[in-house]
Formats: sequence, structure tokens, C-alpha cells
Amino acid sequence: MSVRLALSVAAALVLSLTVCSTDAPMTTTSPDGALTIGVELQDGRPHYHVAADGDSLVASSPLGFAFDNAPPLRDGFEVTGTTRRTVDTTWTPVWGTQDSVRNHFAERTIRLRETDAPKRRLTLVLRAYNDGVAFRYRWPEQPTLDSLRIASEETQFRLTADHTAWWIPDDYDNYEWVYRETPLSAIRDSASKISYNSYLEEVDGGAPDTSEKEAASGTVNPPLTLRSPDEERYLALHEAALTDYSSMTLRADPETATTLHTNLVPWPDGVKVKASVPHQTPWRVIQVADRPGGLIESHILQNLNEPSKIEDPSWIEPMTYVGIWWGMHINKYTWDRSGTHGATTERTKRYMDFAAAHDIDGVLVEGWNEGWSTWLSGDSFSFTESYPDFDLQEVVAYGREKGVALVGHHETGGDIPAYERQLDDAFALYDSVGVPAVKTGYAGPIRPEGVHHHGQQMVNHYRRVVKKAAEHEIVLDVHEPVMGTGIERTWPNMMTREGVRGMEYNAWAEPSPPSHTVTLPFTRMLAGPLDYTPGVFNLTPEETMPDHRVLTTLSKQLANMVVLYSPVQMAADLVENYEGEEAVAFIERVPADWSESHVLNARIGEHISIARQAAEGEAWYIGTTTNEEARTVEVPLDVLDAGPSYVAHVYEDTPDADYRDNPHAYRIRRGLVTASDTIEADLARGGGQAVILDPATAEDEAQYDALE
Ligand code: NOJ
Ligand code: CA
Repeated sequence: MSVRLALSVAAALVLSLTVCSTDAPMTTTSPDGALTIGVELQDGRPHYHVAADGDSLVASSPLGFAFDNAPPLRDGFEVTGTTRRTVDTTWTPVWGTQDSVRNHFAERTIRLRETDAPKRRLTLVLRAYNDGVAFRYRWPEQPTLDSLRIASEETQFRLTADHTAWWIPDDYDNYEWVYRETPLSAIRDSASKISYNSYLEEVDGGAPDTSEKEAASGTVNPPLTLRSPDEERYLALHEAALTDYSSMTLRADPETATTLHTNLVPWPDGVKVKASVPHQTPWRVIQVADRPGGLIESHILQNLNEPSKIEDPSWIEPMTYVGIWWGMHINKYTWDRSGTHGATTERTKRYMDFAAAHDIDGVLVEGWNEGWSTWLSGDSFSFTESYPDFDLQEVVAYGREKGVALVGHHETGGDIPAYERQLDDAFALYDSVGVPAVKTGYAGPIRPEGVHHHGQQMVNHYRRVVKKAAEHEIVLDVHEPVMGTGIERTWPNMMTREGVRGMEYNAWAEPSPPSHTVTLPFTRMLAGPLDYTPGVFNLTPEETMPDHRVLTTLSKQLANMVVLYSPVQMAADLVENYEGEEAVAFIERVPADWSESHVLNARIGEHISIARQAAEGEAWYIGTTTNEEARTVEVPLDVLDAGPSYVAHVYEDTPDADYRDNPHAYRIRRGLVTASDTIEADLARGGGQAVILDPATAEDEAQYDALE
């Protein structure tokens, strides 16, 4: 092609993409043509709408902002131009549930300007993917707007049906709730006071009502998961790329209960976001799928984040770990030295011996540092000074010999000024001795007083810590975090987080009902990996502590190591509880990194089956779990390569297993299968099945019969 011709083609392309008029097209449609998001001005106020296959999912809903230092930015707009582009690329995550991710979307950018002075400008960016739509606001640099003090973001979601909804109450500091299933319209009335135990009563026959807690009225914390009345569509509302902004929660409209308003977590002075211009909001995301598993298989949040900022990520490694941890939660050990101190040099070595013998990559040690006896009383923790019975250098060196990493721990108790003062020294210490992973925690009210875990200041704090950890080539597992929004694509050392009512509650609170872990994959986990800490084998009061128990069978604990994805995955029990158990063979093998993942069959809150292929090697792992109902689930094996045989190692409930009466009972059966077979999962109440599928060698074929 001649240079001139090339230039004219390029020019034509640009012309066709940029339209500067009030008739400018203001929609964009997903590559497969199914999803459309569009904007229109109604009397100068921008509104957006979303449709799937011509059906309205979100009716025309207003956009805009109120400020506490300026007039609102929402009316009197004209369109000054729009631009579109399509992107179709594939990127390789450093770790994850898939070894490559396609990022394919159509985007429309719409530039608005107030018609009257001060003629402030606002840009809307719309994106349509095959698995959802998203939009964000941008404030371009402009002479009449240089700073923002957002009093409210006025984005609404006018949903068009009274879907079934799964949600936790809005709580600016805590996501550690059991998910509720209600009609969408019931959020308005039922979120004002949540009694966890009344929920437990509904599903499990009851427990005294002790943990009632006030929560903001009629509001929920996203991700909010929805199923359409005809069960043909599944939606999830969330945000992506939460950066220098406060978290979005959703408040039901007092009049129209299926309309949700954006509610931002405030600063202590009530302002929601403080920023200088140029600035942009996180993406507001509406995931759309035709089956519940489609929500889980989507990578839309990561795709809406920037590519990795870590140039050489070779130091970032997924891992499994055990830890001096459950012992403190069940009161066997103490974090401080007032009782049987858990974090001793000797016990750490014992855990490292166990990890080395069972192919587990790391050992978490909590309670190693000075300050635990005054936890929550402010400025208490030292992040560099060990208790005298814990020798950091010695245990790290011991682990290194055995190929076992120490997973460090920073519990801040919420005292941010104290932690930030010590941040450099804290990470420099772990870096200098060779600790590759740190669990952080914010169990306590955030200091200074009035700052919320999920507000803008903390969003920025958590990001500072991710960057500091990256400088030291350390990966993070954050407890009491802000909800994930896909930033692990940009900062792949941000590996996993809690932000959930996790295993620990079973040790000292009302146990989470069996439905909890078959709800999380469709709700909390849409936000990203989860440090739930599965893998407890001693499940009953006799085995743990009086009045407390874990409401699953042992096989479900194994299956949860596949279902509840975490690239830093814990096997949570005391190591002595694993000794002599055949089922430990599953924990030894289960990876924390995958090349493929498929949800085989699922019903939200009832059951789920996920197949994942290990990132290394050819083996597949399948986890299948149920709620409080026993059921038989057919697990098709068509994810396997067609043709060759595989050896199936099946860890499952015995026929008499039951999460209440006989949780420990499991059996292991082995046999040959192919891609055209189906494995029957006979799940006990609260039960599960965990399967490993290895390509069969000639020896295997001689040794095993077809799986019975
Ligand atoms: C709460 C965390 O979720 C838990 O894992 C940790 O053991 C305690 N805080 C103490 O840091
Ligand atoms: Ca916690």
C-alpha cells in the first residue's frame, strides 16, 4: 500500500469514529450483539439504559453528582462529541482460574458540557462485553473545575423486574455476614435490622438469637446477585477498578423497591469523595449471564482494570499453606503470651516439618510479634519486634532448608497511623529475612475515629500497602479488606482477601449454615479470590470446643478447596488433626493455580460443581458441594480430553455421613473414567465430593477397573 493510501485509510477510520453533534450515537453493543448500553439526555440530564436481546434490564436511569463545594453536576448538559472503539486482546494472568483471558469489548465515550456557565465538562465511558456492561464517569482537566468534594453520586439502577436477590447488608466496616435470599423488592424493608440467627433458624432449625446487629436501612453491599423471575437470566451489580474513590453500596428506593441508588461510604465529615481534577470513578458493572455459572466464569472485573504494573512478576507464586491460626480461634493457643502461646519457634518448626512432608508451600504464623495483649487499645503492635519465644530468622532459615515459606502476619487492629508509621520497616524486615507472603488484618475500628474500612481513605491505604509490598516483592492476603474490584490484574501481588464470614466464625460464633459456602461462589467471590480458610477435619464440639462446630462433612471441606478459589489457599486445621488421615492426600495435591475452570452445574445457595485443571501438569480437580439437603448430582466429565482414560480419585461422603450427626465419615474410591463418563456425587446433608483426575498410565490401566 502506498504511503498516501495508508494515510487516507487511517484518516477515514478516525473520521468514522468521532462524531461531534447532538445527534451523535450514544450506545454501544457487545461483540455478540446481545447486550446494549446507551445514554440519552432527558431535559439535559444524562440517563443510561441496558438491554439484553431487546429486553430492558435497566430502564432509563439518571446519572450525576451532588457536591458540597459546588452546584450539582447533573443537568443542563449538551453532547459535544462521542467516540467509539472496539478492543479484542488476550492477556495472560500471573495466576488465576484461567491461563489466558480474552478482553473483547465495544466502547463508546460521550463528552458532555453544561450549556450555561460555568460550562463544566463530564465524560461518560460505556463498555459492552458479552458477559456484561459497564460505565464510568471522567472529569477531564478543565478551567472551571479543579477539585471535587462529592456529596453524593446519583447513579441509579432502575431494574425492570423483581428478581430474586442474594445480598449482605450494607455495613461500612464489615462484610462478615451470612448472605440472604429475598425478592429484590424486600431489600427496602428487611435490611434495617438483620438477625443472623433468625436466618439460621429458617434454614437449620434454630439457635438462640444473640447476634442481632443494626445495619443501615434498606442498603446492601455489592456484589449484589440477581436471578430473573423466569430464571433465564442472572445479573450481578458491582464495581471495578476502585481507585482513589469510596466504595459503592446500594440503597433501595423508598418508592420503587426495584430501583437502587448508589450510596458511597462517607469520610468522617460526611463528604464521600475528595479529589482533584482530572479524576474518574470506578466502573459501575452489570454482569449478565444465562446460567449461574456464567457469572463465576466471567473475567469482566479484571478486564475493566489496567494491565499489570509489575514488570517482572516471576516472584509472585500461588501457594497452599497451613498455619498457627485455628489453634487461637478454638482457644487452644493464645496470640499473646498470657496462655499457651501459639507462635513459638518450636511449634513453627513442627508446622514446617508437616508442610514439607505434605507438599504444602507455606506456614502462617500469627501472634509472633509484640502487642497482642493490648490489641484494640491503640498503637499497640510492633511489626518488627518478635516475642522472645519466636525467632524469626531461625524459622525462616529452617523453612528454607525444607522448601517451606513463612507467611508473615501484620494485624493492625485498625490503627492505620501506627501501621503506616511502621510500614517501611515492617516490609523491609520480612524482605530482609525472606518472607514472600504477608497476611494483613484490620480487625478493629479504624483509627482515626470515624474513618470506615470501606471509605476512600482506606481504599487509598490498602493500595499504598499493595505498592509497598510490591516494592519488597511480597504478596498479600488481606483480612478485613475493602471488597475486590479486579485490581489484582494491575497489582498481581494482591492475591487474596477475606471480606467474608469465614471459617473462623465456626470456632467462636454461630456456625455458618451449610448453604453459606454454596452461596459465596455466586456472590462474594464474583469480587475475586477468597481466603475462606477451608480444610478443617475436626468438625464437632468434642473435637473443637464446646458449643461450636463446623456445619459440613469432611468431604465438603476438601471440595471447598477447589470451589472456594484462592491463589493463597489455606488448609486451616491443626496439623495434628491431619496426621493419620488418608484424606490429607487430597490437600497435598490440590493446587492453588489453574489453567482452566468450568462450572458444571449449579443452583445458587443449593449446590455447585466446579472443574479446574491444574496450571502445572494435566490433572483435573472437581469440587461438588451441597447445602443442608442431601442430593445426588451428576458430574459430567466432558472437560477431559476425549479419548484417553483418566484415573479418578474420589473423596466423598459415606452413605451414612451427615453434617450434624456424622460429619467425619468419608471414603475414597478409585477407578478409570473417560470424557464420556459421568461421576455420581452422592452428597450427604451439608456434604461434598472432591475428585482428582490424572491421565492414566499403562500401569494405571492394568491396576484399576472402571470407576464403580
Ligand atoms: C481476624 C482475621 O480474620 C483472622 O484470620 C485473624 O486470625 C484475626 N483477625 C487476628 O488477626
Ligand atoms: Ca475477619
